[in-house]
Amino acid sequence: MGVHVSWRIIILCALLVLLFAEDSSAREITPRRWKVAPDLQQLSKNNHLLVKHNIDDDHDQKHVRAHLSSHMDHTDPSDKIFFTIEDLKVGKKIPIYFSHRDPSNSPHLISREEADSIPFSLAKLPYLLDFFSFSRESPQAKAMEYTLTLCEVEPMEGETKVCATSLESMLDFARATFGLNTRVKALTTNHVRNQASPLQNYTLLEEPKEILAPKMIGCHTLPYPYVVYFCHSQEGENRLFEISLGGENGDRVQATGVCHMDTSKWDPDSPSFRVLKIKPGTGPVCHVFPADNIVWVPLIS
Ligand SMILES: *[C@@H]1O[C@H](CO)[C@@H](O)[C@H](O)[C@H]1NC(C)=O
Repeated sequence: MGVHVSWRIIILCALLVLLFAEDSSAREITPRRWKVAPDLQQLSKNNHLLVKHNIDDDHDQKHVRAHLSSHMDHTDPSDKIFFTIEDLKVGKKIPIYFSHRDPSNSPHLISREEADSIPFSLAKLPYLLDFFSFSRESPQAKAMEYTLTLCEVEPMEGETKVCATSLESMLDFARATFGLNTRVKALTTNHVRNQASPLQNYTLLEEPKEILAPKMIGCHTLPYPYVVYFCHSQEGENRLFEISLGGENGDRVQATGVCHMDTSKWDPDSPSFRVLKIKPGTGPVCHVFPADNIVWVPLIS
């Protein structure tokens, strides 16, 4: 009995030492590492447009909408990421907004171990604000609340989604979606040359190359002190394209774009319908992915 008790005390002491050590190191790196750009709109750029149409009509949606409406007006140039499938022709000119992102001021991708050690839920927001040293009324706090709310919204019918807080959890979601033994490929949008201004008219330089994939996952960044990807996969027909774009002053973008062929279940208020002047279900909605997004497809060899 006495032996047991002393072992317990030793283990307890060891744990306390470990906890304390971890805690103090976390505190040390906090001011250097956790960055959330102050402006939600700037930070989430046009990513919120790409997740917004999935929000089901329940109280969560109103919550998210309330956040968005205060940050977006109805003529936001960052809405310009949508186009129609008829636009995918060589020589066609499309106005597209590609957000700039300063890598030195972007949040870091953290390991799964670290991500798993930090709670990720709206209920824990007060604790998290403390942890990251943001005040309750700060724009960063609003950005975090927005992201956590969006991550807790139920997926729409026919959709699977996850908020991935690490590369490992993003890959887990890809395996769960495509099958455990499927190899996967990541597609992105790359700015090959320049990036003079975010909104420009781009011309399609080549015939778009269609990437045939039975399923795809789109991962969009959300504002948070570390990298969080909102990843989702929708049933129904989606056509994926590699699009070669030339800007007005010599900019070159090798973009990944998708056309959602069935939009009948989408939120009628989705900015895509406003931009394209169409209604849900009346035609495919296409968009390019911003440069910090990742599209996963199964690798067919
Ligand atoms: C794109 O071109 C159209 C017509 O050619 C023009 O009205 C529009 O202002 C241009 N947009 C940008 C962002 O330069």
